[in-house]
Amino acid sequence: MSKMDTVAMPVNALSDDTDWWRGAAIYQIYPRSFQDSNGDGIGDLSGIIHRLPYVAELGVDAIWISPFFRSPMLDFGYDVSDYRDVDPMFGTLGDFDALIERAHQLGVRVIIDLVLSHTSAQHPWFRESRTSRDNARSDWYVWADPKPDGSPPNNWLSIFGGSAWEWDGERMQYYLHNFLSEQPDLNFHNPDVQDELLDITRFWLERGVDGFRLDTVNFYVHDKQLRDNPPLPEEERNDNTAPSVNPYNFQDHLYDKSQPENLEFLRRFRALLDEYPGSTAVGEVGESQRGMEVQAAYTAGDDLLHMCYDFAFLANAYPTGGHVGDILERFNRIVTEGWACWAYSNHDVVRHASRWNMDEPRLRLYAGLLMSLKGSVCLYQGEELGLTEAYVAYEDLQDPYGKRFWPKFKGRDGARTPFPWTRDNRNGGFSDEKPWLPVAMEHVQRAAQEQATDAGSMLQFYKNMLAFRKAHEPVLKGDIELIAADDNQISFLRHHNGARVFCHFNLSGEDQRVALPDGQWDIDRGAPFSFTETADGISLPPHQALFAIASDAQA
Ligand code: BGC
Ligand code: MG
Repeated sequence: MSKMDTVAMPVNALSDDTDWWRGAAIYQIYPRSFQDSNGDGIGDLSGIIHRLPYVAELGVDAIWISPFFRSPMLDFGYDVSDYRDVDPMFGTLGDFDALIERAHQLGVRVIIDLVLSHTSAQHPWFRESRTSRDNARSDWYVWADPKPDGSPPNNWLSIFGGSAWEWDGERMQYYLHNFLSEQPDLNFHNPDVQDELLDITRFWLERGVDGFRLDTVNFYVHDKQLRDNPPLPEEERNDNTAPSVNPYNFQDHLYDKSQPENLEFLRRFRALLDEYPGSTAVGEVGESQRGMEVQAAYTAGDDLLHMCYDFAFLANAYPTGGHVGDILERFNRIVTEGWACWAYSNHDVVRHASRWNMDEPRLRLYAGLLMSLKGSVCLYQGEELGLTEAYVAYEDLQDPYGKRFWPKFKGRDGARTPFPWTRDNRNGGFSDEKPWLPVAMEHVQRAAQEQATDAGSMLQFYKNMLAFRKAHEPVLKGDIELIAADDNQISFLRHHNGARVFCHFNLSGEDQRVALPDGQWDIDRGAPFSFTETADGISLPPHQALFAIASDAQA
């Protein structure tokens, strides 16, 4: 480990604002790849604790930690075998308590990743369930008889390839899995399952967590009648939630997910969270056809989810002004009561610097845009360094999804390689031993320690932009009103309690004249972008943004 972490940190008190999540910046930590502290080549909770000052200094409100529960790690923690314990690879419950305490001291809230839709096949519940059709947990998973010809009960597909049904010779039935066959789906139609999952949620609330990222929240409930999904016409397919080589995209997922009964569970979930004021939930809605509609349903009113995690900017489509405008317009029209949580990158998709092939000025401009949208934002570890997707050779591949669809889809490892802390260590300061995935050489050039001392770095840009955003209430919590969105520019107003901020982004490669809306405006000089004022107005250089504050506040 380096000397970097010994820097004294100011202690920011946690605010007592129970609405903190609205407009929050959430930093996603993929624990396997953040910081190894015990030399096994795998990141761990102690490593995260050690690096919390870095995260606090960035200026985010919260961290979301991908799963660290006990797991056989076939899907790297998204296959849980004990929800109430930390996997020994990551540490202990005591380490987790220390992590929360330290994060809170530093003014950072902690969101954990609950994977409730499915368990690991190693979970004792599943082991029991599969033994017979009449044991105490026989109905905890989704079991069904084969068709008379022995084939699976219906045409549902697993995202990770093949049928969503796996035959179990012990019980002589099929069971449902939306992901790996080692990730059997829990049966949410069974109230005992719901009760147990709520109890697990309470366990972590009692330990002091501030919220949950709900993995695959729209996969919880399946159609009881097990109806076949209809085919999806080719022209309606998209790669928003699965790569185009995946036949999962060939179906219209009417019956295997996003069922209306889920709302009853989510209401129970919210009622529990409301017992712990200030706790929040962000649901991951993977749904290529009706994503916004599902988000609208899940976030309506104040008795369901606080936010949904949107896939709109995780897809391959380049975010041209027009495309971004369409997304914002659709969100405003469809998700009328809900609050969004936007992200460009995460542990499941190609890092956006590579996915959109953006150079540094564009990365900054688009990060500024992300942090100015109406909604909360998730930043994925390393994007603040401008990291690109790492190349992982087939021999080094870990992700079963990538192994299945190689070479057209290389899986998710390229976004999961270890975080580069320093330039001088062979593993970038991540671990003293061989890491579970190789550290990308080009990442080491962009190490955090290096950027921390460079006022012109991407890291410094992220800090400045986060601070700018935090200083302006309308940018955090306001409504959004689109003014223009085309190939050259995006501009909109954010307004909140009579205060207004005008945001303008020059997407073009040319200088651009900016027309301020009618009224009195003060140009903000605190944002990390540049502009020039000339006799006849404001001129924005290529890929710069301008922010102006209304000085004639309206009620
Ligand atoms: C997670 C993935 C995981 C899947 C199954 C997701 O959407 O983000 O990493 O493989 O759920 O749990
Ligand atoms: Mg370790």
